[in-house]
Amino acid sequence: MKQLVLVTGGTGYIGSHTAVELQQSGYDVVIVDNLSNSNIEVLDGIEKITGIRPAFEQFDLCDTDKVTSFFKSYSGLQAIIHFAAFKAVGESVEKPLMYYRNNLVSLMNLLQHMDQYQVPHLVFSSSCTVYGQPEELPVTEKAPILPAESPYGNTKQISEEIIRDTLKARPNLHSIALRYFNPIGAHPSALIGELPRGIPNNLVPFVTQTAAGLREELKVFGNDYPTPDGSAIRDYINVVDLARAHVVAIEHMLNNKQHRNFEFFNLGTGKGTSVLEIVKTFEKVTGVPLKYRIVGRRSGDIIQVWADTRLANEELGWKAERSLEETLLSAWNWEKHLRNITD
Ligand code: UFG
Repeated sequence: MKQLVLVTGGTGYIGSHTAVELQQSGYDVVIVDNLSNSNIEVLDGIEKITGIRPAFEQFDLCDTDKVTSFFKSYSGLQAIIHFAAFKAVGESVEKPLMYYRNNLVSLMNLLQHMDQYQVPHLVFSSSCTVYGQPEELPVTEKAPILPAESPYGNTKQISEEIIRDTLKARPNLHSIALRYFNPIGAHPSALIGELPRGIPNNLVPFVTQTAAGLREELKVFGNDYPTPDGSAIRDYINVVDLARAHVVAIEHMLNNKQHRNFEFFNLGTGKGTSVLEIVKTFEKVTGVPLKYRIVGRRSGDIIQVWADTRLANEELGWKAERSLEETLLSAWNWEKHLRNITD
């Protein structure tokens, strides 16, 4: 019999790609999403790619009664992948309580019900934001956790602590926190991808929207950083590679390969890329010239970060495989699909 996995936030960007990879690996998927930052049509994309429409329940995970009804009706759950959370850094500074309530209450509701309904495995979406600006690069999982720069970042740190403390008291539960670096790109089919609401905060959606003519120009935030070309450096990881890591993490737990009942892994490529390199690579692979202007640094940005991925390579047997070129092309193909742009 197929194993059933709950994907919270499964109509979102990383969640939808993970639902595809799970179904293609033989898992049954049930998605819970309140659609606060995603569209129901994403289910059509998942169905077109995999031939299977995942089960879908629309409700808010902060609503404890609804969570209880859900766990009662889906008794065969084997594992949970918890993506559902607010994630805009700037908005979290404006509305901290909204972020703390949404991101923490939903997690606590899930943990409580996992315990009550004997669902032993949880994969949690964490972020490299927990490291702040690391002193040593590439950053390993042993690097110190620095005070968070934003309420959003703090919810990731606190969530990891909540899981750690809960699992100490409940050794029958298992969890893996995956610390993402910068996920970009879209499914190669161009049937699912990132759907930012309003003006994108993140670099690659801003790049593709500028290329599509929706934005006047890209602002490059700073060219006076102590980096080779002066622009800031991140570790950009293909979203399908990232989605695959969730399937591998589930298998790691289902096959009892965990060394401890709470593990965490960096998910990146191990390679840093500057903002200006993203611009140049995008222009090269798409043939579309990009209008951009250098402006001042964005407040709260770190200078540079990239992952040491050895732990995920060795313990999970996972490695990012897709190149930056194909990833940026997939982001552009998705933008073209959204805007009905033909070559
Ligand atoms: N950038 C620009 N112009 C833009 C947008 C971004 O130059 O219009 C630059 C940023 O200054 C940064 C780089 O592109 O140097 C990447 O910026 P993103 O906003 O795409 O990503 P961040 O690394 O700032 O943010 C990511 C996640 C957050 C997380 C943060 C932790 O999106 O969720 O890492 O560092 F909190």
